[in-house]
Amino acid sequence: MSQPLSKNALEQLFLNARSHHAWKNQDVSEETLHQIYDLAKWGPTAANSNPGRLVFVKSAAAKEKLLPALMGGNVDQIKAAPVTAIVAYDLEFYDHLAKLFPHADAKSWYVGNPALIESTGFRNSSLQGAYLLLAARSLGLDVCPMSGFDNAKVDELFFQGTKWKSNFIFTLGYGDEQKLHPRAARLEFAEAAKIV
Ligand SMILES: Cc1cc2nc3c(=O)[nH]c(=O)nc-3n(C[C@H](O)[C@H](O)[C@H](O)COP(=O)(O)O)c2cc1C
Repeated sequence: MSQPLSKNALEQLFLNARSHHAWKNQDVSEETLHQIYDLAKWGPTAANSNPGRLVFVKSAAAKEKLLPALMGGNVDQIKAAPVTAIVAYDLEFYDHLAKLFPHADAKSWYVGNPALIESTGFRNSSLQGAYLLLAARSLGLDVCPMSGFDNAKVDELFFQGTKWKSNFIFTLGYGDEQKLHPRAARLEFAEAAKIV
């Protein structure tokens, strides 16, 4: 039976978790990247469509390839981060639905409907990206999501000849707490939510 997580776990996942812009010189192993994926993959998506796709940019050559697509201050952050993940979505995600959603002919809902393919791909890969951020934090890593880059350029550099499209990127590693600025406020419940 499910139980509320411990205070420590809530602090690690939410209350004390920051978006890190500076990184310790500490590698993230391929095994850890697999662990992050193997947790996040269980997060829900529409019709279990799993449209999210991922590229972990880890090698010096792949990092170099990514740099021209980045905006301003993100260049130095990504140079310093041990890994940057490109969260993308596959416009042909429906090809896997026979395996992923076997109890219905879900593929037929999408084929020939580019607007639904796009909205489903974008919405659900955004969710999957968020699951990845929390999975990484649950394993003791730090992240910083980023939209300050040229999506078309990333698609050209990494996804040419495929049906994958970039959504957002995030840096991943062990953050340098000494370099954090004070945390900014969040909207209070009454400013952002209603119970009706
Ligand atoms: C979708 C998205 C895009 C972001 N883009 C950038 C970015 O391009 N560069 C950057 O340094 N931080 C970026 N951030 C980080 C935010 O500024 C940061 O998460 C926010 O200020 C909250 O900071 P905190 O988590 O430390 O409280 C982005 C965050 C999100 C969720």
